[in-house]
Amino acid sequence: MKRVIILASGSGSNAENIIQYFKENDSIEVSAVLTNNKAAKVLERCERLGVPAFFFNRQAFSRSDSVIRLLKSLHPDLIVLAGFLWKIPFSFVDTFPNTIINIHPALLPKYGGKGMYGTKVHEAVKEHSEPETGITIHYVNENYDEGTTIFQAKTNVLPSDSVDDIASKVHQLEYEHFPKIIEKLLQDGQ
Ligand code: GAR
Repeated sequence: MKRVIILASGSGSNAENIIQYFKENDSIEVSAVLTNNKAAKVLERCERLGVPAFFFNRQAFSRSDSVIRLLKSLHPDLIVLAGFLWKIPFSFVDTFPNTIINIHPALLPKYGGKGMYGTKVHEAVKEHSEPETGITIHYVNENYDEGTTIFQAKTNVLPSDSVDDIASKVHQLEYEHFPKIIEKLLQDGQ
């Protein structure tokens, strides 16, 4: 069984979508979800879906190796950042090379970097009157949103689209493609 570990900071709608996608799968499972936010809705989702969830704080994440030890104990084949908002320390990338991937709700290198997450990204896309936006799935390195791109998908943006409309179009792309890309990476021997 290939093991996927998800890190999420908030709502976790992508986490839920990925969990549902692999629910009946014989060779890939979501083994656990880790969060840095005790109030994250993703924790309710995990409880409902019967997936083990773990909380960690800043101290455990950035100033000790306890989260790395936890991850190691879970033997991940792929670590998936799905709306996880803290920067990944180099020690994680070094311990799990080519194993950590992230989804970003825009067409990187546009609208990436520190402070660019969730709605802020869609607001920037609207403000710049971009004709299109999309998603980028990429490997994680020690810089925000800079690892090698694995996959991008685009959607158009109409002048009449609100920020919520843009967010909704991007979420649809995330739900459609993220689980399939995870599956493909694991089938290709990740
Ligand atoms: C997703 O749109 C994801 O692409 C984005 O946060 C949202 C989380 O939604 N991630 C980033 O902005 C990372 N820079 P969800 O919690 O409902 O899955």
